[in-house]
Amino acid sequence: MIHADMGRLDVQVLREAYGTFPSGVTALCALVDGSPVGMAASSFTSVSMDPPLVSICVANTSSTWVRLKPSTRLGVSVLAAAQEGAARQLSAKAGDRFAGLGLEVTDEGAVLIEGSAAWLDCTLFDEIPAGDHTMLLLRIEALRTFPEQQPLVFHGSAFRQLAQ
Ligand SMILES: Cc1cc2nc3c(=O)[nH]c(=O)nc-3n(C[C@H](O)[C@H](O)[C@H](O)COP(=O)(O)O)c2cc1C
Repeated sequence: MIHADMGRLDVQVLREAYGTFPSGVTALCALVDGSPVGMAASSFTSVSMDPPLVSICVANTSSTWVRLKPSTRLGVSVLAAAQEGAARQLSAKAGDRFAGLGLEVTDEGAVLIEGSAAWLDCTLFDEIPAGDHTMLLLRIEALRTFPEQQPLVFHGSAFRQLAQ
């Protein structure tokens, strides 16, 4: 065995390390005072089958999460390969994040993006402080999948698609 030569932990290297792990991209959205509110999130992970739980980590600085948090239901859309533009728009600091997007809304106010690979209609199960982020545990109350849709992939700070 050879001794592993490990590098120093600094923000840039940490960002690069996290970026080596490919993830999907989701949109966490709900109707707030009659208008859609939401954000792109790549920290989505499936957590538990029983109860059905998924997690998303939100930055403690996120003003979007402050607005979403009181919602009875939270929509999670797993974005599809063709939705790179939607992902960029849903993370924009300025402008209408939902301009031009087809939206569907449940009776209880979860907002889902048309053209996605999956829709999860969730309740907030728990919030776990985790450094400069908060880990949201979301319980899936209802769902729909669109298996014909290929996923959007986020890797190394770039949007990618799976090779066909
Ligand atoms: C591909 C991608 C993935 C992102 N993933 C996350 C995430 O997992 N958690 C998070 O808090 N913000 C994430 N963001 C940032 C948010 O989409 C958004 O830019 C941020 O919430 C803006 O700050 P605000 O909430 O104060 O408006 C991501 C942005 C992009 C482009």
